[in-house]
Amino acid sequence: MRTIFWDEDEKCIKLIDQTKLPDKLEVLCCKNVETLADAIKRLAIRGAPALEAAGAYGVALACFERDFLDVEDFKKHVEIRAKQLASTRPTAVNLFYGIDRVLKIILNAKDVDEAKNLALKEAEKIAEEDIMRNKAMGKHGARLLKDGDVVLTYCNTGRLATVDWGTALGVIRSAVEEGKKISVVACETRPLNQGSRLTCWELMQDNIDVTLITDSMAGYVMRKKKIDCVIVGADRIVKDAVFNKIGTYSIAILAKEHGIPFYVAAPSTTFDWNKCEEDVVVEERSREELIYCNIKCMKTLIAPENVRVYNPAFDATPLKYVSAFITEKGIIRPPYSENVKKILEI
Ligand code: MRU
Repeated sequence: MRTIFWDEDEKCIKLIDQTKLPDKLEVLCCKNVETLADAIKRLAIRGAPALEAAGAYGVALACFERDFLDVEDFKKHVEIRAKQLASTRPTAVNLFYGIDRVLKIILNAKDVDEAKNLALKEAEKIAEEDIMRNKAMGKHGARLLKDGDVVLTYCNTGRLATVDWGTALGVIRSAVEEGKKISVVACETRPLNQGSRLTCWELMQDNIDVTLITDSMAGYVMRKKKIDCVIVGADRIVKDAVFNKIGTYSIAILAKEHGIPFYVAAPSTTFDWNKCEEDVVVEERSREELIYCNIKCMKTLIAPENVRVYNPAFDATPLKYVSAFITEKGIIRPPYSENVKKILEI
């Protein structure tokens, strides 16, 4: 099943509710942008490429929310909804890419019916492109993996973080599909545990060998020579840093210290190459995510209730720690200031 798709019969977006995993595999139906925006904020749908599709489908969904007086009323409504979607999460650039691409189609359409039709087609195209990019990335990236390799990964970069297949986990899937035996070490990824809840779940669904460790064990397992390479995804890649789930920077430094290659697998739509680290807003999330052991029921405290909390959701890893980028257009090695533009043609 795809992580997110359009249900034509019910005229709604359906998505796997990732807050329920690994307990339950439940599909959430978003009949309006309000429900989708809430799902994005709660991380029911998450991961940069999945957010790209969510943004695109969300703008298309806005076209079906009510009847319109005229084309102006329609376009005004869609623009308001696009802004609402764009305000959900600030860091992953893919969300804005998906929103802007569909919005542009709508604003150029001559009437409401044409706009609805083209918006949905464009959103479907964006979702299809994501899968194709992930498969291409997988093929390129699989060349970096040898039979028997142990790969450490962080957060969730698989089917659930994309429309299907995955970025970093997509590379692992492709290598396994080619017949290589690959073992994965998954960090749990505090505070929301995308690694333990989602990465372990989806790899086990596919019978890919996975071992769960806490985030603080990464250095120890690298020192014990148990890791052949690290592969992570990204939420935004700028000309001097990779933004990814908080904790990625520490893993990158550990990998360099231990002489382990650190690869970032990301589609071209994650590159925001004209920007630099200082331009990017890092999302800060609620204190409850740190002080309760289960954010859903907010009952069991694991910290004093009134402790001061700092909870940034992402960090920035300087490019000197990145051994190579794995993209759908090929592997990009340093110097990035030359090679990213050359290979991605941006
Ligand atoms: O807060 P999240 O779960 O949306 O963060 C996701 C990540 O940081 C992923 O590593 C990133 O989006 C790459 S996904 C293919």
